[in-house]
Amino acid sequence: MTTRTQLPVWQQLQQHAEQMQACHMKTLFDEDADRFNRFSIKLPQLLLDYSKNLINQDTMGLLMQLARDVDVEQWRDKMFAGERINFTEDRAVLHVALRDRSQKPLVVDGEDVTAEVTQSLKAMEEFVEKVRQGHWKGYSGKRITDIVNIGVGGSNLGPQMVTEALKNYSDNSVNVHYVSNVDGAQIADTLRPLSPEKVLFVVSSKTFTTTETMTNARTALNWLVSASFDQSAVSKHFVAVTANIENATKFGISEDNIFKMWDWVGGRYSLWSGIGLPIALDLGFDKFIELLDGAYEMDTHFQQTPLEQNAPVLLAMLSVWNCTFLGSQSQAILPYDQTLHMLSAYLQQAEMESNGKSVTWNGDEVDYATVPSIWGELGINGQHAFYQYLHQSNNVVPADFIGSVASVTPVQGHHETLMANFFAQTQALMAGVNEQQVRADLKAKGRNEEYINQLAPHKVHKGNRPTNTILLQRIDPKTLGSLIAMYEQKIFVQGIVLQICSFDQWGVELGKGLAANIQKELEPDGEVGDHDSSTASLIAYYKAIKAEL
Ligand code: F6P
Repeated sequence: MTTRTQLPVWQQLQQHAEQMQACHMKTLFDEDADRFNRFSIKLPQLLLDYSKNLINQDTMGLLMQLARDVDVEQWRDKMFAGERINFTEDRAVLHVALRDRSQKPLVVDGEDVTAEVTQSLKAMEEFVEKVRQGHWKGYSGKRITDIVNIGVGGSNLGPQMVTEALKNYSDNSVNVHYVSNVDGAQIADTLRPLSPEKVLFVVSSKTFTTTETMTNARTALNWLVSASFDQSAVSKHFVAVTANIENATKFGISEDNIFKMWDWVGGRYSLWSGIGLPIALDLGFDKFIELLDGAYEMDTHFQQTPLEQNAPVLLAMLSVWNCTFLGSQSQAILPYDQTLHMLSAYLQQAEMESNGKSVTWNGDEVDYATVPSIWGELGINGQHAFYQYLHQSNNVVPADFIGSVASVTPVQGHHETLMANFFAQTQALMAGVNEQQVRADLKAKGRNEEYINQLAPHKVHKGNRPTNTILLQRIDPKTLGSLIAMYEQKIFVQGIVLQICSFDQWGVELGKGLAANIQKELEPDGEVGDHDSSTASLIAYYKAIKAEL
């Protein structure tokens, strides 16, 4: 497979990056009245403006050439066709099949994927209706009022992020809670106000081996059994979503209560599967389908639109441009919509667990920067916390600004204040303010020369800081589905361009293995094993203090 840095277009982009670093975006705007039209696209539910990046037409031409030269379109088609593009785990990558609303047949390794998905959606729908309408009863015959989802990583972040984003669409038939942390404080706090006879636990774990989830699930089971004095209550209060049916049944969950997952769905791409059960329980099955519809619409756009107008491709290539060629090391996700307050946490896993790697498909060390670290917060909160860094630090942090034209919960006067900030920030980050402007401004305010000399350098904003603006019409299930799928496909394209295996996560295994051994050592009579002096001393200190407490 091609070494990326040897591609002529890669080298052209490196040279071009040096030229562009001498430009200022403000000049590019001043020189081209049509810049917004040139560098923005409108899709049915959203507008993507990427004109505030350090790009010109040559940049975009080269980036699209790179996408073509590394066969993005061919790899995309392989994914949708169910080829085993997850090389290191020898699996297909078919989360896209979970939301393929066309119902066209797809057979992979003799398995009728379309039929499996249809059947699984049907099972979800029946279950969701039973619970929401109160036909599913707890051990004492009462209806279920509270759902507790137990899962972590992809078995938590996706469904919880969506539940939060769409909470205004819930009819409150049930209350949904999420437990992900093995810190007992979370499950204790969650269970404290709940009544065991009215709670349904959804144990979400693709592998059904994840220590944190299993520990929380056992605690929940003990809580239920000690309240009901009845082991058979488990079948009325526990369901599982997993690809490991054997482990789930061993745990005590009856096979009728297991929603199936498949090895071709990666955990961080799984909210479209049974892992989305808490979303459907909260909103109703029809809204869950609208979420899938939105994702399908984006998948269709991704498959059918020329690269130049293809939102996931544009976002991916701009990220490659900003990070690999211009040297940015992190990227901020800044939603200006309260409902999207978990989006950056969700995208952190989606992008960093997918592409936070440093060997190519062939196992060679990459000799270029790969993906940025992803971080962020609600924009307004960020403005009063870390935006100082975005505006004036000597690290450039490209940022995605995500806002909505209409608020789902309009409160007189709030939305325009919110959106005024949304528009102001990207303008400020792009244009900045130079010393001449700062001096003129201070002079106009009547300041003396000495004061101006002293203060001016502190007030200069260099600007030239790249942002994408993603303007949604309004957060609703369909739009949210499109937004999430857009980012998923962006991550896919980045992986192809950077030659990264996006669908494994070997990097999380080392720590897991060590933790399992250390847990035994933490027992009062556990022998502390062979560690470096720091780790050994920390464990010894912990045990000594614990023995005294
Ligand atoms: O340890 C990381 C990880 O494997 C993620 O990839 C995954 O989303 C999460 O743990 C949870 O895994 P599971 O669904 O198998 O419990």
